[in-house]
Amino acid sequence: MLCRCLFMRQWPVTISVASLIFVLLNFKMDPKPSNSTDWDVIVFTQRWPVTICSQWLKANINNSCLMPTDNSIWTVHGIWPTKSGTRGPWNCNKIHFNESSISEIESDLKKYWINIENNTKPTSFWEHEWDKHGTCAMILPALNTELNFFRKGLEWNKAFNLREMLLSRSIMPSSSGYTIERIYNSVRNAINHNPIMQCVVDKDTKESLLSEIQICLDRSFNVIDCDPVKGFFENVIQAGNVLTDCSLKKVVVYPSHTSLTDGLTEPDVILETNIQSTLDALLESRNYWITIYKTIKFLIWATI
Ligand SMILES: *[C@@H]1O[C@H](CO)[C@@H](O)[C@H](O)[C@H]1NC(C)=O
Ligand SMILES: *[C@@H]1O[C@H](CO)[C@@H](O)[C@H](O)[C@H]1NC(C)=O
Ligand SMILES: *[C@@H]1O[C@H](CO)[C@@H](O)[C@H](O)[C@H]1NC(C)=O
Ligand SMILES: *[C@@H]1O[C@H](CO)[C@@H](O)[C@H](O)[C@H]1NC(C)=O
Repeated sequence: MLCRCLFMRQWPVTISVASLIFVLLNFKMDPKPSNSTDWDVIVFTQRWPVTICSQWLKANINNSCLMPTDNSIWTVHGIWPTKSGTRGPWNCNKIHFNESSISEIESDLKKYWINIENNTKPTSFWEHEWDKHGTCAMILPALNTELNFFRKGLEWNKAFNLREMLLSRSIMPSSSGYTIERIYNSVRNAINHNPIMQCVVDKDTKESLLSEIQICLDRSFNVIDCDPVKGFFENVIQAGNVLTDCSLKKVVVYPSHTSLTDGLTEPDVILETNIQSTLDALLESRNYWITIYKTIKFLIWATI
């Protein structure tokens, strides 16, 4: 009897505690930041279709790629509003993608903002970019509609012509590679600011393949230095003046269409300097701490 009375008296407390736990759990399960005004950097990301396609084909035997008709160009991945020191915000409102809003530029989007990952829904790439990032970008008058958002991507794809920037330092697609410093500085010198360069490691050849290049802008669309130390990308480090997750030890391959179909037979070139091994050690220790951090975060999540 006594226990039951106690329980009755504690009932409101029990409900409050239960709802608090419920709220906390919901909060944990929905980590998306959603404050659409709270960002300061635009990360404009372009991708090298050959690398993207090669990895897509390897991911599943049934996959196929759609490649741009002009096979020398880099294509748009996205315009990503970002708060320094974090990732996102994302999915800022429920204004969903509507294909008819972009019908007048769709033929250009199919060339320059192409959904390389064929055998996904044809508009799914644009839909994802708009719903996740466009809805946060739209607080700026210049990006306030779907049409303006996608037009800006096409405009920047021309303004920041990566093929030309790389070519100006005689860097062109091939099966051999270049040091990441050389690739990086060609773009850096062209925009006078620090970009970010990302690679993927091919699981068969272990080659470091140039994959995506980010250029950062402020809210007035002035190019600024990207700053991975403050967030954006987990594995990107600053090595000397280079911001990258590409290999610092081996050459980085900017693959041509034929180099991948012919197979990569070039031996790995090792740059043997003390600086390289120091930087690699740094990269490894950083990944170690990220793993610990993630484990702790998981434990906190799991125990709440
Ligand atoms: C959203 O971000 C702005 C700018 O940082 C801040 O002033 C505002 O309080 C935030 N609003 C919410 C609901 O967090
Ligand atoms: C590829 O497609 C075939 C036919 O639709 C299917 O049977 C098979 O499971 C698919 N393979 C993979 C790896 O998804
Ligand atoms: C998409 O936009 C068109 C024209 O602006 C409109 O008629 C249509 O209802 C919209 N579709 C949805 C699903 O909102
Ligand atoms: C793209 O995918 C569709 C449907 O899955 C297929 O019919 C088409 O041949 C593919 N295109 C290319 C270029 O492989």
